[in-house]
Amino acid sequence: MKIFKNLFWKQENTYNVGNIDLENLPVHIAIIMDGNGRWAKKRGLPRTAGHKAGVEALRDIIRTCSRLGIKYLSLYAFSTENWKRPQEEVNGLMQLLVLYLRKEVEELHENHVKINVIGDIQGLPENARQEVEAAVARTENNDGLVVNIALNYGGRAEIIQAVKEISRRAKRNELDIEAIDEEIFSKFLYTKGIPDPDLVIRPSGELRISNFLLWQIAYSEFWFSNIYWPDFTGKNLVEAIIDYQKRDRRYGGVK
Ligand code: FPP
Repeated sequence: MKIFKNLFWKQENTYNVGNIDLENLPVHIAIIMDGNGRWAKKRGLPRTAGHKAGVEALRDIIRTCSRLGIKYLSLYAFSTENWKRPQEEVNGLMQLLVLYLRKEVEELHENHVKINVIGDIQGLPENARQEVEAAVARTENNDGLVVNIALNYGGRAEIIQAVKEISRRAKRNELDIEAIDEEIFSKFLYTKGIPDPDLVIRPSGELRISNFLLWQIAYSEFWFSNIYWPDFTGKNLVEAIIDYQKRDRRYGGVK
């Protein structure tokens, strides 16, 4: 089968979706875009060149998700720990983010993509924050794929800010402590209103979660690959989805 449910994108780039079951797609896919640095090093290039190539891969993945009819795609673009990288690399990543949004927002918008951000964007450089806010505002009424970009994001930091806000409200008697349950707690996370990821993908051979969506991945399925992110294509994504569809999700129960 070569047909996608969702053919908004003008530029054709179809993958053979093979045995994919279009009725059993993951609603939410989360990706840790890892391996840009090693991809660049293998080629004798600066790390920033790896991130640039990573943006190209991102383009293909967004398109493929949109065409397949995936509802949410979360991308780990910059973590609360990534500030520890050399200043030049941090600057390069921020610049890339600004250029990417400036260049791509209109096409994303035309294709019904809604851009959402998770993380503390107040901590971003002023121009990056403004560009992000403009992209969110431009696409806020779109009803297609939601691209959730994690920027200055950390899973633990997210949980702590939720606890603080819940505590403030409890102190003001606006919230009954005994009534707090998982559903209420989730409403204080950056991902409020977004279902938990069904599938988490991490390329580049690393087998860890690196502080990404810690609360939300309680029952997610994981898919790892040795491919570095810049080499990751829609074909690999389709492969991950087909594998996911073979999993037996029991959520702690029995079938
Ligand atoms: C991890 O690779 C990747 C990142 C920290 C950044 C991911 C960012 C992009 C793909 C581009 C910027 C994003 C947007 C939305 C424009 P790494 O550097 O840790 O690779 P390594 O483990 O091989 O060193």
